Amino acid sequence: MGAVTASSLEFIVSAQELIVRIEELGNQFAAAIEPLTDEQEIRNLQAQYMGRKGQVSQLMKQMGKVPAQDRRTVGEVFNRVKEGITDAVAARLDALEEAAQAADLARTVDVSLPGRRPRPGHLHLLTQVHEEFRAIFSELGFELAEGPQIETDFHCFEALAIPKGHPARDMQDTFYIDDDVVLRTHTSSVQIRTMQSQPPPVKIISPGVVYRRDDDPTHSPMFTQLEGLMVDEGVRFSDLHGVLRHLVRRFFGEALEIRFRPSYFPFVEPGAEVDMQCSFCKGGDPSCRLCKGTGWLEIGGSGMVDPDVFGHVGYDAERWTGFAFGMGMERMAMLRHGVNDIKLYYEGDMRFLRQF
Ligand code: PHE
Repeated sequence: MGAVTASSLEFIVSAQELIVRIEELGNQFAAAIEPLTDEQEIRNLQAQYMGRKGQVSQLMKQMGKVPAQDRRTVGEVFNRVKEGITDAVAARLDALEEAAQAADLARTVDVSLPGRRPRPGHLHLLTQVHEEFRAIFSELGFELAEGPQIETDFHCFEALAIPKGHPARDMQDTFYIDDDVVLRTHTSSVQIRTMQSQPPPVKIISPGVVYRRDDDPTHSPMFTQLEGLMVDEGVRFSDLHGVLRHLVRRFFGEALEIRFRPSYFPFVEPGAEVDMQCSFCKGGDPSCRLCKGTGWLEIGGSGMVDPDVFGHVGYDAERWTGFAFGMGMERMAMLRHGVNDIKLYYEGDMRFLRQF
């Protein structure tokens, strides 16, 4: 072994000293990367430390001067610091990307805008009208009565003073199932069923679906009728007038008048058609398209119950009198809402249904 000279001595570096310098380099890098917000700057900094001529590589060259037995320890510190630098670069770049995405989102999504509300469903216009009628009549003390849509000839016609062969049967455009069974053409059949099942007084409405062989913009083979019946001692035509006028005023929300026109229905005497003042022009517009300038709109049939009908249900016609009326619910809703085609009620087109 040769002598140790001073000049060779200065090349000896203690492990301790090198470890301190490596750690210092690591801390220096950590401080330098901290304020950087640009990917390129970060990459440049990384190269300054980790590149082939970078500071870490420079320091690594000192390894040769460390006593052999300490190199392993120093090498471990080098590796730890290098890993630390690589991890710090990766973490910083990730954070930058996340921030960029968040900024992007903030730009394209205005989180302060009101959300899109789901459209809740609602009752069909006819159901709404149906419920309104029920409420209006219940205030007047009328009860709800219901009956079958497939009906006997007796309840639909016979008991209503329309025997087989009676010319009035032609008015009804009936769907016959067989000689004695029909699809009810009106809910007057429910009036018969109610009177058969209870003694007077009677005060009912019978809303429901009815069927007729009829099909054009204002007629449908199936539609919804509202009929009413009141039987008691001393019921008069003026009661009928009062009830129908009240109905029209409540339903249309205006002080509209009604009028009667003499008409014929086999089950009432006298019978009358009911008109209401035009809800559109109130009778003031000779060119009104709704009432065709007449000022009046027809809404239904009515009259005083024929004693013959009382005979069919066993009521004493000497003691009891009554009125009855019937109208189409689709028509009433048409007049109030300006619906011009009855098919719109049944087609389920949301653009129509949503409006109510
Ligand atoms: N039932 C008749 C119809 O459907 C209407 C009506 C009812 C007429 C009560 C008079 C009395 O045409």
